[in-house]
Amino acid sequence: MRLVGFHLRPASWCVLLLSAVCACPSSESAVAPRAGSDGGVADAATPATEPAGWDDELRIPELADTNPAADVVEVNLTARPARLAVAPGADMWTYEGRVPGPTIHTKRGDTLVVHFKNELPEPTTIHWHGVRVPNAMDGVPAVQTPVPPGGTFEYRFVTPDAGTFWYHPHVDSSAQVGFGLYGALLVDDPNDTLKADVLSLVLSDASVTDAGTLDPGDAQGHLGDYFGREGSVQLVNGREHARLLARPGLPQRWRVVNACRARYATLHIPSFRVTRLGGDESYAAAPEERPDGRTTLAPGERAELLVVPQGADGETVSVTWESYDRFHAQADLRSVPIVDVELRGDPVTSAASLPSPLGDVTAVDTSGAAPRTVTFDDVGGVLGINGQVGADIPMLHVAANTTEVWTIKNQTLQDHPFHIHGFRFQVVDTGSGNAASQLEWRDTINVVAKRSIKVAIPFDGRKGMWMYHCHILDHAEGGMMAMLMVE
Ligand code: C2O
Ligand code: CU
Repeated sequence: MRLVGFHLRPASWCVLLLSAVCACPSSESAVAPRAGSDGGVADAATPATEPAGWDDELRIPELADTNPAADVVEVNLTARPARLAVAPGADMWTYEGRVPGPTIHTKRGDTLVVHFKNELPEPTTIHWHGVRVPNAMDGVPAVQTPVPPGGTFEYRFVTPDAGTFWYHPHVDSSAQVGFGLYGALLVDDPNDTLKADVLSLVLSDASVTDAGTLDPGDAQGHLGDYFGREGSVQLVNGREHARLLARPGLPQRWRVVNACRARYATLHIPSFRVTRLGGDESYAAAPEERPDGRTTLAPGERAELLVVPQGADGETVSVTWESYDRFHAQADLRSVPIVDVELRGDPVTSAASLPSPLGDVTAVDTSGAAPRTVTFDDVGGVLGINGQVGADIPMLHVAANTTEVWTIKNQTLQDHPFHIHGFRFQVVDTGSGNAASQLEWRDTINVVAKRSIKVAIPFDGRKGMWMYHCHILDHAEGGMMAMLMVE
């Protein structure tokens, strides 16, 4: 059986999504399609579709898979400078001549092979943010000699988990990401029963001067490192502003990545029904309604949102990128329109349901887990970890195949998103002042200034040197980045 916008496992219709998650009194979509009385009702036999060309301005091309095997995705990816409209006076640094880079798309369990070529003037690497890769494929200088200009490297690994991941350099990352090097890596779950129309949104920014050139990666020196460099233009899929067409009532699944080097994003989708399905690693155990339409993403974080457009044919709803006060300075917050959603067609009245539970996530067993405390510190005006800065931070030693519970204490006056390479975690204690967390897998989490958070990290047998750091990349490169030896 097929309902509008969704394919359903019969056993999983237990949750009527719209009635379960939407408390709006005006809701009328929690009912099955009704016969023609209001004219615009879609017939289940001829499912409603998005308006023609609905995502033309936002669609990110996918890299072509050159391998005929069903479970291998093999792609060519070149990093090179390119002149783009966003910065007409200077070359941006790109993957395949575009910002964001092309999307790489696999299924859980597929082998991904990336033939990477560096045509940039500087050495670089690719880090597969969030993917539980073999240590040698992590794309950090501790495990890989950076690819020199003109050099090549083959990345080869299995994508073991479904989720919205992304890729970016891990050499001089604040500068290189700031110049435009980032792209989405979408890993689908072959058993996913949710078939809403997928839209990926990569949020980023760029420091473009009045002359259309780019600020140097280390602009403002130490102050830039300390405060984090937020670009002058905010981009969604490489554009300052885009138009999306949508059929009222027809659910869309938005997979959102915050690829900014330092800027947080609160995505505000007013007047539509917004349900958060999950974040970094696909679906949470349960959906979470967002009645105010807002979702905040720290740099490096992702969100999966089910968005049901509401309104009449011809209406336009503006989705905005609101700033987030990571310094708790009560500064004036900006709200920048980024996507105008134009509603086209008669409203679809659909009974849409989500599997229950939504994601296949069980809570980490923390009995017997070793506790550890990691602190984010201001070390005499330089940001660091555990009281030290950069290379001086003592390396942590973790026994393979053990679970640890980390208390991450932010002792500074600004927020920092914690990110660990190679492993994933669950938040086990949000601590006061941090945003609530669903039962879900993450690899990045914001820790509010002067607050702490506890996460449970199951370490498996992938021994070697891994990184953990703040994902404000100016902080990371400035010293808030450290190593962890799994042995
Ligand atoms: Cu996206 Cu070391 O991180
Ligand atoms: Cu930070």
